[in-house]
Amino acid sequence: MEKSLRDRILVVDDERDIRTMLKIMLEKEGYTVETASGGLEALGKISQAFYPLVISDIKMPDLSGLDLLKEIQEKSPRSIVILITAYASNETAIEGMKHGAYDYITKPFQNDEIKVVIRNALEHQLLKEENLELKKKLTSSIEGLGIVGSSKPMRQLMDLIVRVSKTRTPILITGESGVGKEIIAKTIHHLQNPASPFVPVNCGGIPETLLESELFGYKRGAFTGATTDKAGLFETANGGILFLDEVGELPIPLQVKLLRVLQDQTFRRLGDNRDIRVDVQIISATNRNLEKEIAGKRFREDLFFRLNVLRIHVPPLRERKEDIPLLLEYFIRKFAEKYHSKPIKISSYILKELENYDFPGNVRELENMVERAVALQDSNIILPDVYKSQTIESIDTVALPFHTCEFPERGVNLPAILEEVEKAYLTEALNRCQGKKVDAANLLNMSFRSFRYKLEKHGLE
Ligand SMILES: Nc1ncnc2c1ncn2[C@@H]1O[C@H](COP(=O)(O)OP(=O)(O)OP(=O)(O)O)[C@@H](O)[C@H]1O
Ligand SMILES: [Mg+2]
Repeated sequence: MEKSLRDRILVVDDERDIRTMLKIMLEKEGYTVETASGGLEALGKISQAFYPLVISDIKMPDLSGLDLLKEIQEKSPRSIVILITAYASNETAIEGMKHGAYDYITKPFQNDEIKVVIRNALEHQLLKEENLELKKKLTSSIEGLGIVGSSKPMRQLMDLIVRVSKTRTPILITGESGVGKEIIAKTIHHLQNPASPFVPVNCGGIPETLLESELFGYKRGAFTGATTDKAGLFETANGGILFLDEVGELPIPLQVKLLRVLQDQTFRRLGDNRDIRVDVQIISATNRNLEKEIAGKRFREDLFFRLNVLRIHVPPLRERKEDIPLLLEYFIRKFAEKYHSKPIKISSYILKELENYDFPGNVRELENMVERAVALQDSNIILPDVYKSQTIESIDTVALPFHTCEFPERGVNLPAILEEVEKAYLTEALNRCQGKKVDAANLLNMSFRSFRYKLEKHGLE
């Protein structure tokens, strides 16, 4: 985008002094500034021209800043909005952030702060535009495979996947639960020959004897109930890929048998003495640490060497947080299609919260969050705070600090009581963390931003 276009700011405020003051200050910084005296006038301007950044007061007579924000998101989704708020109505500003405002500034203005906020906002906007461009370029190569990611580890992984798909050697895919091991196996299959069989087997979910007959098949009469000859999955996978999922859970006796197949390239159906030769590529996956399993004698080292000819390790999502925005967008689109609904918008506020979250369930956890949010059409629901409080049961709700509820006949002032309780916890958390706000916010299971806001509210700063 041209520089002149990039730096256009629309200032919206019903107070003329504020408009003028901001205009003068920002023009001095080299920005092109236009003003509007209310939400409706602003909407008119936005329909005429693109403003990467809109700074808007919240309280205005004709159209509130929050409503303007919503309109802008509909009509000019590439614009970013910063809200102006008087100190007392900070709550609304936070509300605005949840609904997609980039940030807020408080009156009376601190000029230096404003300059920083605005510079960051415009940089953020530019980055967003560049990401969009980049994504357009990447979509074909990455999304075509159903694997989304732009982080360095993911790009390296993509390269590796393309390279290994040219061979038929055994591949071991490792990584925590939900990182995408299965989707990688399927992608390799797709790149190799989508018309060939892809046969997944869950080595952990089936009883040992059943698994054995599933894998190798059996001859009629091999055991009670074997009334006909049956081909095993090895035969079904002939010419294609046998995907041994959760291979770390394979019982030792079956590990021995599998090893034999890998060594000889032949096997026998149960109860049969005929050797069967198949051309099957083995891709196995595990979230266990097989080296440790070997040390603990739960996994055979000789089998490990056979399976681990090529290794693909998928890092956990928390080690590639750059992938979060792209995955978010991908899943939002995917589920909007599935539910025939509008794609939801994720505010930068919530994105930041997500990027601070560790995702113990990795991509699957993110995917589930998005599915729920899209199904409920609620872009707010995916706050990790909500998830934290569900998973960290022990610390989310301690018993109330009162043994009994004092509840006089004439009633109580509950809001005031809650304020007092909140203030007491904030103070205690700060004390315990020697005043370190980030730690204190963590201790209270709150985002840093809302913690800071609450400190301000209680005059604790
Ligand atoms: N990079 C990615 N791009 C798009 N979708 C992904 C990506 N990684 C994972 N997913 C999705 O996340 C979900 C979990 O992935 P998958 O089942 O492949 O994980 P896994 O590593 O096999 O997990 P587990 O060890 O629990 O079996 C799937 O729905 C998958 O499509
Ligand atoms: Mg899996």
